[in-house]
Amino acid sequence: MQNDAPVITIDGPAGVGKGTLAKVLAQRFKFHFLDSGATYRALALKAIHENVDVNQIDRMLELAAGLTVAFPAGGAFAAHAGGINIDDRLRSEACSSMASKIAGRPEVRAALLGLQRSFQQTPGLVADGRDMGTVVFPCAKVKIFLDASCQQRAQRRYKQLIAQGISASFEHLFDAMRARDERDRTRSTAPLAAAEDAWVIDSTEMTIDAVVKTALDYAHERMGMMP
Ligand code: DC
Repeated sequence: MQNDAPVITIDGPAGVGKGTLAKVLAQRFKFHFLDSGATYRALALKAIHENVDVNQIDRMLELAAGLTVAFPAGGAFAAHAGGINIDDRLRSEACSSMASKIAGRPEVRAALLGLQRSFQQTPGLVADGRDMGTVVFPCAKVKIFLDASCQQRAQRRYKQLIAQGISASFEHLFDAMRARDERDRTRSTAPLAAAEDAWVIDSTEMTIDAVVKTALDYAHERMGMMP
């Protein structure tokens, strides 16, 4: 059931910093938070655990129907299931790959809509993903599409990994990111695209602080309330 709680959507490609921006906005407005990618990842984790293949669509829909995910503010908005922090497990390569496959299935996307929309509660919601402003919350009060060149996103990811002491190849990261962009933008159901009424921020040449300030100013102006 839709309600009147205001929604801020942040959509954009992989590795653009949507999650960071969305969490800051949720903290500043004291809103609920939805990482919609984590709903696909949590379903993927469950499917892997239950040995369910992406083509066993009925089983997949059963798992989707029983899925519960929470992003408690006290847990810094990390994904929880059954009160347990599952954020790290959602980031594994196996989970990412399965999530990407199931996200391409229209039946699965439809099955997760109810769960995603259930996060729209007072005093408001910040939702990040690929289709938050176009499909899931078309009536959102504030829609932001955060973009950056593939080169820049791969570069940022590379620096993050190196800073964590993880060896990485820039070329590999760039190719993987470009392939993922292509899949996300060309899939037939809910492709990655800016909503017509979204405000596009190209962060290629911006620092994260500048992006946060720009987005906060815009959200504040649209919402008519102080963040
Ligand atoms: O943002 P992420 O990497 O956690 O997303 C995981 C997968 O789910 C990724 O393949 C993109 C997909 N996704 C989607 O199709 N629609 C969304 N609203 C969010 C994520």
